Amino acid sequence: MRKIVIAVDGPAGAGKSTVAKIIANKLGINYIDTGAMYRAITYKALEKGIDINDNDRLINLCKSTEIDFQDENIYLDGKIVNEEIRQLQVSSNVSRVAQIKEVREIMVYLQRKMADRYSVIMDGRDIGSYVFPNADYKFFLTASVQERANRRYMELKNKGYDVTIEDIIKDIETRDKIDSEREFAPLVKAKDAIEVNTSNKSIDEVVHEILNCIKMG
Ligand code: DC
Repeated sequence: MRKIVIAVDGPAGAGKSTVAKIIANKLGINYIDTGAMYRAITYKALEKGIDINDNDRLINLCKSTEIDFQDENIYLDGKIVNEEIRQLQVSSNVSRVAQIKEVREIMVYLQRKMADRYSVIMDGRDIGSYVFPNADYKFFLTASVQERANRRYMELKNKGYDVTIEDIIKDIETRDKIDSEREFAPLVKAKDAIEVNTSNKSIDEVVHEILNCIKMG
């Protein structure tokens, strides 16, 4: 089977990772959560007490950091950090780190290398518009801010985090703004992406809608 690339973009909480994971399993391909890569470097910077506005130190940090995925786990310098990178402190700083052109270049290089090795479904903000302009399939998931915030709230609450819906709405709105307005590879729907509004749809419905568009072989 030839290698394929499926891009799934959209704002925070639109359902990208849930849907992409299921599709990866159904198609037997690798799921890559590119947001987790930006989160991992942000987490490492916060752990090391690096000023999140110090671009030079963040770029250097990136150059000396190993990020990899295996079996849906994200490895930061060889250690699994699936849970650590979901903390609200990481969420509220990650968009700032993801604005830095050189940080993005390093992450994009890694993302392209992964797709050289195996078929992928990759979710993020710029996958269809910038990382893989020639992706086999491109989807852009959307949902209202309220719906996206509710989903994130439930997800974090279930994991035992002490958060309020107001904090999440504020975080999502701020991130939407920074992600869409940044200069380099902003959050944007690629012209040839299929838009899927996930508001008021079950996960199954969204998965079906996407799978109906995909032909493997
Ligand atoms: O999908 P997420 O919420 O885990 O992403 C975290 C942040 O990473 C998001 O606010 C913007 C950034 N990001 C990005 O700039 N480009 C990507 N391809 C993926 C995420």
